[in-house]
Amino acid sequence: QKGGYPHFMLKEIHEQPEVFRKTIRPRLNNGLPDFSQESIPDDIFRECTHIQVIACGTAMYAGMVGRAIMEKELRIPVTVSIASEFRYDTPLMDQHTLVIVVSQSGETIDTLAALRLAKECGCKVLSIVNVKGSSIARESDYVLYTHAGPEIAVASTKAYMVQLAVLYLITARMALVRKKDSEEAVRAFITSLEKAPDMIEQIMALDETIRKQAEKLAFAHDAFYIGRGMDYAFSLEGALKLKEISYIHAEAYAAGELKHGTIALIEPGVPVIALATQDKIFAKTISNIREVKARDAYVILITKEGADVSDDVYDIHLEIPIEDDRFTVFPCAVILQLLAYYTAYAKGYDMDKPRNLAKSVTVE
Ligand code: M6R
Repeated sequence: QKGGYPHFMLKEIHEQPEVFRKTIRPRLNNGLPDFSQESIPDDIFRECTHIQVIACGTAMYAGMVGRAIMEKELRIPVTVSIASEFRYDTPLMDQHTLVIVVSQSGETIDTLAALRLAKECGCKVLSIVNVKGSSIARESDYVLYTHAGPEIAVASTKAYMVQLAVLYLITARMALVRKKDSEEAVRAFITSLEKAPDMIEQIMALDETIRKQAEKLAFAHDAFYIGRGMDYAFSLEGALKLKEISYIHAEAYAAGELKHGTIALIEPGVPVIALATQDKIFAKTISNIREVKARDAYVILITKEGADVSDDVYDIHLEIPIEDDRFTVFPCAVILQLLAYYTAYAKGYDMDKPRNLAKSVTVE
């Protein structure tokens, strides 16, 4: 059942290139995104003035990456809400709001309640769901299924990857429909997206290096993940992965926030996983990393290949083989998943069934 892997989580990490291809290929027509098989009308993309993403946990962190890419490419406001907060808020939405609900299981109770609230407000709901026929899928106006197959490990990995893939596809379709980009530009975007599975496969080659870092991380009581912009969204997911399966206290911070309080927690040897994959704010992030390094933190730095960085700002430097900043989430996600997996492994935990957690949260 585990296909020769010691745990479902590792098997599912390795399945990512395949499920990514399965999720995007059927939705491409002549190199352009096409949701006609799912009967999703372009009007919902053309007519909305605001996008509201609603989800929990990892699915919500996928939504945060979605927000970054959508706002950048579409210049439309996107809000991401935690379903358990959203459902008790006074929602600011109407028929011009496109609500995108993201859920692997399709059964998360808070997400389902938020979906119902959105429908009461007159919004159209498009959901990104993995489990066919689940409650969220049934109650949504439109569904784009992710084709991750069953995700057994409690820690979500491959479902996150394909949720991202679908969010990127929606972005591309909207860019086309709203005439934000030419067909040629959208085709180029899709070509880059299609490279993600190969990139993920290349990251698997870093397995041994990541495992060695994880063996060090296993001794830590706390770990910090830092990044700016999109990198911050990836950091949040990385920290969640580590805490839920290795029980190490891990927090993600927008790197620029460090000096507003958190840097007080940095002491010699504290692991800081620093992501600096975005050119626009690269220098700013590196200067934040210098600040933690000056306090003797143990820095695991992730950048694009060939990034100009001097070796006094990190202890270990992992480079991802990519040029286009917009797609760095795919290789980064795999590094962060493997880091969490091998840390839990080094600690001897059963990361497929972490304590206190259920795969699907169907009660409040
Ligand atoms: O099934 P859902 O995607 O709605 O679940 C949402 C969260 O419960 C889930 O992503 C959770 O955070 C994972 N255990 C994280 O790995």
